[in-house]
Amino acid sequence: MSPAPHPLRDAYPWTTPNVPVVVSAPMMKITLGRLAISVSSAGGIGFLAGGFDLSQLSDNLAEAAEYAKSTNTPLRNGQLPVGVGFLSWGASLDLALEALRKHPVAAVWFFAPRHLSDLLDWAKSIRQTSNNMTKIWVQIGTVAEAVEVAKTTKPDVLVVQGSDSGGHGLSERASLMTLLPEVLDAFEEEGIEGIPIVASGGIIDGRGAAAALTLGADGVCLGTRFLASNEAAISKGYQDEVLRVTDGGVSTVASTIYDKVRGINDWPQTYVGRGVVNRTFLDAVAGMSEEENIALYKEAMTSGDSAWGPEGRMCTYAGTGIGLVKEVMSAADIVRRVQQEAVKVLRESAVKYNS
Ligand SMILES: Cc1cc2nc3c(=O)[nH]c(=O)nc-3n(C[C@H](O)[C@H](O)[C@H](O)COP(=O)(O)O)c2cc1C
Repeated sequence: MSPAPHPLRDAYPWTTPNVPVVVSAPMMKITLGRLAISVSSAGGIGFLAGGFDLSQLSDNLAEAAEYAKSTNTPLRNGQLPVGVGFLSWGASLDLALEALRKHPVAAVWFFAPRHLSDLLDWAKSIRQTSNNMTKIWVQIGTVAEAVEVAKTTKPDVLVVQGSDSGGHGLSERASLMTLLPEVLDAFEEEGIEGIPIVASGGIIDGRGAAAALTLGADGVCLGTRFLASNEAAISKGYQDEVLRVTDGGVSTVASTIYDKVRGINDWPQTYVGRGVVNRTFLDAVAGMSEEENIALYKEAMTSGDSAWGPEGRMCTYAGTGIGLVKEVMSAADIVRRVQQEAVKVLRESAVKYNS
């Protein structure tokens, strides 16, 4: 039997048919070529993080190409079967185009521009340079953003990021449970059609994936879950913390303090970063000056893995789903497990309510 038509599978033909499309989020400095290629080789869609400083992007893509070769992962139409994520507020379009000309990829992902209109130039240039072969994905966090981006940038895929997500997101945002269906309703009202939706924020396992698909998503994107993958470029202290922490609604917090101590001061003001509550945050709330907090953070940077943890100072960016992450697995096994679990959950509910 040939697989059912699917808006994402047609454009990314290496994805596994008849199971949910699983995407790994670009996570700055953590998701590089090995993780992205491993996810795509396993039938998902992997994103390499470009971040905002693109000076290493060409080298990172060259490494991804090497890794693809060494694992017999074929190019598709001359493109690496992965995407590249950009933090649009700080990334240089010239550097992006230079890297993408050398190493064409299947998709690019834009997030957090200063103004949504900034995305127009990026989308136009990348579409032109790649002859429309590189697909444009945009991650948004509100209904208004979804409608504006759909009407102006006209992305090939819209990633809807709910408030449970790890790392950065809009400070004012709803969870996927309400945001996703409202985006779909708004699209219907506005007559916007043909843009596949990927849900992101708080999806850790097949249950979350099944829920997002039930809400109307065409695919699911996981960030926090892949922090506990063998291929994540992450220190042991950080990864141990992801495994240890439970109850993410209270043990993580969305704040700007973690950027401040790291010296990253250029995020648009509407964004906050969700990470595990630690000394840096608690001291800031208790009134410690930023200067002192930064000095203590710098000192902690020399302490290795012990600088993470509840009494530590190093930032553990992660989402509220952190308590569901219990073991480190290969990226390929994460993709396959989420897919299989989601199918099982969806089948079981179909049986339960099929009276
Ligand atoms: C450690 C970490 C770093 C992240 N870095 C980026 C990034 O560089 N670019 C980006 O578009 N999103 C980034 N995100 C957000 C993801 O794109 C995605 O929205 C989020 O991980 C989904 O929620 P989840 O973490 O609950 O799965 C990051 C998330 C985490 C946890």
